[in-house]
Amino acid sequence: MKEKIQQLVDTLNKANVEYYMNDNPFLSDNEYDSLLNELIKLEQENPDLILPDSPTQKVATQVISEFKKVTHDTPMFSLSNVFNEVEVRDFTNKISKEFPNCEYVCELKMDGLAVSLNYEKGIFKRAATRGDGIIGEDITHNVKMIKTLPLKLKEPIDLEVRGEIFMSKKSFNECNKKREEEGLPLFQNPRNAAAGSIRQLDSKIAKERDLDIYLYHIPNTPLATHYETMQYIKKLGLPINPNLALATSTSGILDYIANWTEKRASLPYEIDGIVIKVNNIGMQRELGSTAKYPRWATAYKFPAEEVITKLTDIIFTVGRTGQITPNAVLEPIKVAGSTVKRATLHNLEFIKAKDLKIGDYVYLHKAGDVIPEVVGPVINRRCGQEKALEMIKECPICHTPLVKSASEIDYFCPNEACPARNVESLIHFVSRNAMNIEGLGESIMEDFYNMKIIQSFPDIYHLKNKKQELIELEGFGIKSVENLLISIENSKHNSLERLLFALGIPGIGEKNARILAKKYEDIDDLKNASEEELQNIPDIGGILAKNICQFFDNPANRIVISQLQSLGVNTEYLGPKVIENEMFSNKKFVLTGTLSFIKRDELKKIIEKYNGIVSGSVSAKTDVVIVGQDAGSKYDKAVSLNIEIWDEEKIKDILTDLNEI
Ligand code: IVH
Repeated sequence: MKEKIQQLVDTLNKANVEYYMNDNPFLSDNEYDSLLNELIKLEQENPDLILPDSPTQKVATQVISEFKKVTHDTPMFSLSNVFNEVEVRDFTNKISKEFPNCEYVCELKMDGLAVSLNYEKGIFKRAATRGDGIIGEDITHNVKMIKTLPLKLKEPIDLEVRGEIFMSKKSFNECNKKREEEGLPLFQNPRNAAAGSIRQLDSKIAKERDLDIYLYHIPNTPLATHYETMQYIKKLGLPINPNLALATSTSGILDYIANWTEKRASLPYEIDGIVIKVNNIGMQRELGSTAKYPRWATAYKFPAEEVITKLTDIIFTVGRTGQITPNAVLEPIKVAGSTVKRATLHNLEFIKAKDLKIGDYVYLHKAGDVIPEVVGPVINRRCGQEKALEMIKECPICHTPLVKSASEIDYFCPNEACPARNVESLIHFVSRNAMNIEGLGESIMEDFYNMKIIQSFPDIYHLKNKKQELIELEGFGIKSVENLLISIENSKHNSLERLLFALGIPGIGEKNARILAKKYEDIDDLKNASEEELQNIPDIGGILAKNICQFFDNPANRIVISQLQSLGVNTEYLGPKVIENEMFSNKKFVLTGTLSFIKRDELKKIIEKYNGIVSGSVSAKTDVVIVGQDAGSKYDKAVSLNIEIWDEEKIKDILTDLNEI
């Protein structure tokens, strides 16, 4: 029986691969169905013999109650962008300085959503979204439904592999046609349709929608090159985009870009650019990454589609700092896959520089294919009726007279009690990179503010006392209220840096919030820090030190902080503790070559633990270069700049003394 089941599973899986991936069906639909029915029957009779890669596991849909959080083993990076030939050359020139004969792999940039897959002993175990790069969401139930994805690899290995889920143009059109017939709102583009299908609790929807996947990255590949890694992914039975190519020079990359720019429209799926990756994995590791992007890869983005539409009005919005922003009201128009009605005009200087008038026809594109941007007026379509913008004198919301910024460019509403400012501050407080509370989107927050349900940060933590009231609101149900309250509860355990960013202290972005949290560890210590002390922290400086002191000297802010504390919101730094150490503290390190006894990432973590800074390239500001085997040009540069060098033996001794190894 076991053998019979195994045989049916193998035949059906092979038939799927040939049908969906190789366009080479060897079973008729009838034959396939009858084998599948035979398997279903045998599995029903012998449920303990169901194999994890059985095609029935793809057929059976599942409804989950929530998306579980998943911490990625290695962060999921996004890519830096380049937009033209000059920027492509800048990218390769920078790399050539370090690696003169660097080889690249060029790939199509799939326009879908990133996913990380985990296989254990060759069996598909989990799929997760990118999320914020560190924590994503478990979408295993939906990814299982992708027909081209095998549930079992050809080798029984543990593997983390990443790629893109997408929807073909054909499936997208079919999906929208069906929605139109059913009177449902249409998806703007295949990416939205794919994302909409993946963000479903019931995997029946993903199954119907016909999603697809290409894999393009193994975070810790054991192979020497990316090209070999891609062949290995394929060998394991996973789908890869076949259009990848090796390029031995910048002109090879530019040829690939030119070729696919021309052929783009004929592809059966959408691409939004070309990904350029350093082929050699050793070089990739040497180049490392910035906080957001790997330095060994970049994405060339196709030029933004430009359209013309009418600028019917300019209206003003108020930000959380009181800053007044003019916004273009546009005749709705489709550009780069979605309909645009509004676009920021930044400030009066922008409007003046572009010579924009109300009533103008304007060129519009999406910067980086995401943010709509007014490029300029179509001068020859002016009829003389266009009107110059008149700047408002009062806040459009609270009518307080506006004040000008020191730079004379921006206008501000100075009223700290301005409702628009308050709502924006609340929206910022709960946002993903701040307190990360899900279920309080912009329009819900606006409604809650107007209904006086939330007027201040502490009110968010009082919501649990209003559970019944919330459940009865239109658009809410028990489940969504419960999820919201769980998310609020979870946010109480955030590390201090999130709270510092969420509070909206002028000039304190995520990076500075992290610096302050690490340095002071507790909000009460930061609250009492002097301006002089703050000023001396690298990266903070005079203006920010003043802002921080002003913020904490304001009694209203002190009250909010103590209320948050008594509501159980954590105000301590929970990240890895920083230990001052004279070998490392405040020194800039560069790592080059391979060390036999420790991985580069681990060494980086240890250096940071002792308050050292690890950077990617050697400059006059570098204090120490740690040199392993096969060190590259960073070593030569360190010698020429007379920078202190630690060899393997020295760093090993230091780490042994510190009990780190
Ligand atoms: S490589 C560390 N390769 O583009 C390298 N990304 O804008 C990880 N993407 O987040 C990415 N096609 O979601 C890579 N062939 C490809 C890709 C690709 C599409 C997506 C991916 C990434 C985004 C960056």
